[in-house]
Amino acid sequence: MRLQNKKAIVTGGAGGIGRATSLAFAAEGASVAVVDLNADAAEAVAEEIRAAGGTAIALAADVSSEADIERVVASVVDELGGIDVVFNNAGIIRRTTAVETTVEEWDRVFGVNVRAIFLMCKHVVPIMAANGGGSIVNTGSGWGLKGGGQAISYCASKGAVVNMTRALAIDHGPQGIRVNSVNPGDVDTGMLRDEAKQLGQDQAGFLAEAAERPLNRMGQPSEIAAAVVWLASDESSYVTGSALVVDGGGIA
Ligand SMILES: NC(=O)c1ccc[n+]([C@@H]2O[C@H](COP(=O)([O-])OP(=O)(O)OC[C@H]3O[C@@H](n4cnc5c(N)ncnc54)[C@H](O)[C@@H]3O)[C@@H](O)[C@H]2O)c1
Repeated sequence: MRLQNKKAIVTGGAGGIGRATSLAFAAEGASVAVVDLNADAAEAVAEEIRAAGGTAIALAADVSSEADIERVVASVVDELGGIDVVFNNAGIIRRTTAVETTVEEWDRVFGVNVRAIFLMCKHVVPIMAANGGGSIVNTGSGWGLKGGGQAISYCASKGAVVNMTRALAIDHGPQGIRVNSVNPGDVDTGMLRDEAKQLGQDQAGFLAEAAERPLNRMGQPSEIAAAVVWLASDESSYVTGSALVVDGGGIA
């Protein structure tokens, strides 16, 4: 029960890594707000938590919208009674080069992957600061720390997540707020399968390539969730501004 009495927001909470982390937060005693574009899937995750005896609400939102973020933050304060932990995890990928990427696609990737984190922090930090602190975890990527092919907007956006995390840690450490990024390698989720589709590649071959790393397999969402629970909990009380890599040794 490492998150007992904590109130947590998980964005992209209906999908692979977000869903696993919502469940892990709840198993550690947190009340969880599952935030996602997909209202039905978010409700299903919240219901799964409640069925297991936990506390959870589902909130439909587009995290790139400031109006949606303001509504989510107000609802969580109202319904859960505060905010101690935020996992800014919603993200999208477009597998294209600069030449192939439209301006609209570029802006959408940055809206969901980068602006959403800025907006959430803008509205949550004052609440955490007034409450003596909190923990924010942002989902970067191995491709926020090194480059990757045919993913120009994604690589740029995840690099921004990693460095925005450091800047947030510097600004808000004195208020007792820790901010870290978790940087997964290839994890077995819908996003990975969608990438194979976007690239027009055979799914089995794409997933086999994703497993090519020292631990010789893809990651599971629960393995990212375990790292996020640690960053969210007081066990990581002296950790801020870090970029934690959870990738089966891929970057190594
Ligand atoms: N799967 C991987 O291999 C991998 C690797 C590195 C980083 N990541 C990152 O992990 C995070 C989660 O990815 P995943 O693999 O679980 O993906 P996923 O597609 O399985 O889940 C993403 C969730 O985010 C939601 N979402 C998308 N846009 C949204 C928006 N505008 N507002 C609210 N919710 C929105 C989706 O509905 C979905 O439920 C992303 O930031 C992704 O970039 C994933």
